[in-house]
Amino acid sequence: MKVSLKTLTFNPRLKKAPIISLQGQPVALFTEQHCNILMALEQKKIQLFSECRNGYCGACKTKVISGSVTYHLQPLAHLEKDECLPCCCSPNSDLDLELSAHYITAVGKAVTTSS
Ligand code: FES
Repeated sequence: MKVSLKTLTFNPRLKKAPIISLQGQPVALFTEQHCNILMALEQKKIQLFSECRNGYCGACKTKVISGSVTYHLQPLAHLEKDECLPCCCSPNSDLDLELSAHYITAVGKAVTTSS
């Protein structure tokens, strides 16, 4: 039996890397380096609460303001139409997520240098 694993990462059909924004503020590019949106955010020092990282628990559930995503596997956590699970999906285009101001503050802290 031939088994193939489909790894969903950067969509090579996209003409440019999707921009991930938090409440309209661009924070990260989603590139071939990222397996999912959560990874792209964490690489930018943006911490989003997560547990299973496989679409089971729903801990990372986030509202989507604009854009759409593709899931690696069908998630088990219940989602409303305007929600996504960043731990197990990739953006189809530029994506704006409704994360609280706390997360955006984390972005500011990530670029602040100590003197
Ligand atoms: S961390 Fe469990 S669904 Fe994302």
